[in-house]
Amino acid sequence: MTGNAPRNDTKEHEDYSERFVLCFMWVRGSSCCCYVNLIRTDLIATPIYPYMSQLKNAFDVYLFALSCGLRAVMSGNIGDGLKLLIAPVGYWRFLPNAFVLQEFKSQHNPKVLDASSPKLLSLMLASRTGNKVYATDLNDTQIFSRWQQFARALGLKNYEVEYQDARQLKYPDEFFDLVYSISVIEHIPGQGDAEALREFCRVLKKGGRVVIEVPYRRQRREIVAHYDSKGAPLETPQFYERHYDASWLRERLEDVQGLSLEKKVILGETLPIDPWIATNRLPRPLRIVLLPLEPLLAALNYWSRAHDTIGRPLAALLVYRKV
Ligand SMILES: C[S@@+](CC[C@H](N)C(=O)[O-])C[C@H]1O[C@@H](n2cnc3c(N)ncnc32)[C@H](O)[C@@H]1O
Repeated sequence: MTGNAPRNDTKEHEDYSERFVLCFMWVRGSSCCCYVNLIRTDLIATPIYPYMSQLKNAFDVYLFALSCGLRAVMSGNIGDGLKLLIAPVGYWRFLPNAFVLQEFKSQHNPKVLDASSPKLLSLMLASRTGNKVYATDLNDTQIFSRWQQFARALGLKNYEVEYQDARQLKYPDEFFDLVYSISVIEHIPGQGDAEALREFCRVLKKGGRVVIEVPYRRQRREIVAHYDSKGAPLETPQFYERHYDASWLRERLEDVQGLSLEKKVILGETLPIDPWIATNRLPRPLRIVLLPLEPLLAALNYWSRAHDTIGRPLAALLVYRKV
């Protein structure tokens, strides 16, 4: 099964990892045999620039996380600061951050809505725009107890945190230049994913961008939770999240009135690292040792492509423009 052809300018994002591997092998004197099967000769003529700029974006967010952790420690918030220094950017977040940052950079001082995404990136965007960043979640108290504290330590006055349901945002029409929602709408039951997308469209200015990322596999699946977020058994199992496949992406997310799909990329991994770090398989001390290394593992192993035919697809990232 293949992912669908991108509609417009996905070209520059294709085969990210192959380019990386090419570069890596060149640097390492072609010693990395396990990646040889990924190399395509036609890439030799392909400009390396788009890949390098994505990697730079991803590492910029990583460096921001470290500096933010240090600032928090120095301002007395030692626990949260250390946590960020130890686990600055998760394995699965490294590449999506780069894509969102790229859309952010394409606009001048955008007003941004982060709808329930992991919050680190929203802090960085607030530090780089003359406009406001609204960092929301449905009910995660950490937006106040953790992320608002980081914003204060960084002296950010344009960082607003609020509880918001993505299906019914309280903002007026055409309020934002950029809306992004990473690993969120797959958790909204029923038609909640499509409802959230319509709402993102409503609050977006014409020409503005929406970026979403959802789990993607070759076979669709709805996952049901038997335990709550604190590990207590639920009386009745509850919907937890959707894993989209190509046809579910098409049916549920690609055709949104008012939004034109500009990019669609599949993200995934070459070696199966996800099954180890997403579960309790590894002994806890080893898992902790891996936390600071996750950005590096992602840089080496996590790819973005226009198709899902090789490797282990894990997510789909979609960028829309309001028309
Ligand atoms: C996997 S987490 C995403 C990342 C998470 N916020 C973090 O900081 O790592 C999914 C998030 O979606 C949020 N969520 C679930 N349903 C929602 C809804 N209807 N509207 C807005 N957010 C929702 C949850 O509160 C949760 O924070």
